Amino acid sequence: MSTAPGGRADGSATVVSVKGVNKHYGPLHVLKDINLAVGKGEVVVVLGPSGSGKSTMCRTINRLETIDEGEIRVDGELLPQEGKALAKLRAEVGMVFQSFNLFANKSILENVTLGPLKVRGMKKPEAEKLALELLAKVGVANQKDKMPAQLSGGQQQRVAIARALAMRPKVMLFDEPTSALDPEMINEVLDTMISLAREGMTMIVVTHEMGFARKAADRIIFMADGQIVEESTPEEFFTNPQTDRAKDFLSKLITH
Ligand SMILES: Nc1ncnc2c1ncn2[C@@H]1O[C@H](COP(=O)(O)OP(=O)(O)O)[C@@H](O)[C@H]1O
Ligand SMILES: [Mg+2]
Repeated sequence: MSTAPGGRADGSATVVSVKGVNKHYGPLHVLKDINLAVGKGEVVVVLGPSGSGKSTMCRTINRLETIDEGEIRVDGELLPQEGKALAKLRAEVGMVFQSFNLFANKSILENVTLGPLKVRGMKKPEAEKLALELLAKVGVANQKDKMPAQLSGGQQQRVAIARALAMRPKVMLFDEPTSALDPEMINEVLDTMISLAREGMTMIVVTHEMGFARKAADRIIFMADGQIVEESTPEEFFTNPQTDRAKDFLSKLITH
């Protein structure tokens, strides 16, 4: 355990550190002085109304979006601007989006081996062994020779998780991973995420699945209008929200 600078009060290391981050899209101030530290093994669930900047925040963490001000570190290292260092960083930050983003013209196995082969320089037998282990872990090893379109949405999303894990990421970002799924497939993806969390994966999860948030989150971040307006335990957030924005958000969830 590290107590080095950047370490946390409880002695665990900080995996993601976001400090004083501001970002604009033209006149829109989309991220307003965002500060967030995520410790090793921590599961942070990000809640908030549509348009509050949740996706933008996730995208800045693996540098899919630039920032105007502030700094973001992954495992202590500042986000690189470009080139090889950026590719390496992206490999360390696994990302799973709402849409499945698998390569349509590659088999399930190839989708998972591609990163280890190209970015990690792994040899093919080793990459295939790893991919099969991960596909088994997410429960779709028997689909390995199929093409993405032959799988259900829930299966594709589990392959997307396996593909991200194949890069041995230091943190996994999930941006509404179940929002595009039919209801009966949501739980198989959430269950996969819960087992990852139990294994100690550091995770940042944007979701509207409140059951998952209550069950899996160590901490809830509530965003509104580009700001983090609340940060608390799930218990506190759901039973005793502090701000009107959070109360309003929760009341809408319950009545729908
Ligand atoms: N590439 C972009 N260009 C301009 N505005 C954008 C862009 N991406 C997002 N926005 C705007 O930024 C705000 C935050 O969006 P987003 O981060 O997607 O919010 P959330 O994920 O919380 O719904 C929204 O008002 C959205 O319209
Ligand atoms: Mg979003």
